[in-house]
Amino acid sequence: MFSESAIKELDEIRARYPTSRAALLPALYVAQRESGWLSPDAMEYVAQVLNMPKAVVRGVASFYAMYKCRPMGRHLIQLCTNVSCMILGAERLVDFLKNKYGLEEGGTTSDGMFSLVIMECIGGCDVAPSMLVDSDYYGNLSEERIVEILERYK
Ligand code: FES
Repeated sequence: MFSESAIKELDEIRARYPTSRAALLPALYVAQRESGWLSPDAMEYVAQVLNMPKAVVRGVASFYAMYKCRPMGRHLIQLCTNVSCMILGAERLVDFLKNKYGLEEGGTTSDGMFSLVIMECIGGCDVAPSMLVDSDYYGNLSEERIVEILERYK
């Protein structure tokens, strides 16, 4: 289910942290990176690796918004449409994502590569319109720039 490098990373995380609970958030991050969300099997594996109850892993994963407990694309686009971004064309960019990639708000591309979430301010008003792809931040967006950015994730 997990790549060899992810399994190695999980072992390293387990060894680095003093307790399983301390290791849980970074371990879930690695697990989610593998397929874009935390499936029941992925959470069970994390529970095994950290030798902790599955219910604890599920409880933590479902508490934090950064963890996705339902199927998502491999990469998560978080596009801001709050005031600064809206004034500078964010809503046109939402239409562009829909028309070019078939990407609706809350939806996933047919190839499973990208999911889209519309966000409130993500703190990049000075370079609006802005978005995150996974944990990478991008500003000064245009249609052309979005195409160029998303190509890097394929
Ligand atoms: S309004 Fe979009 S980043 Fe602040």
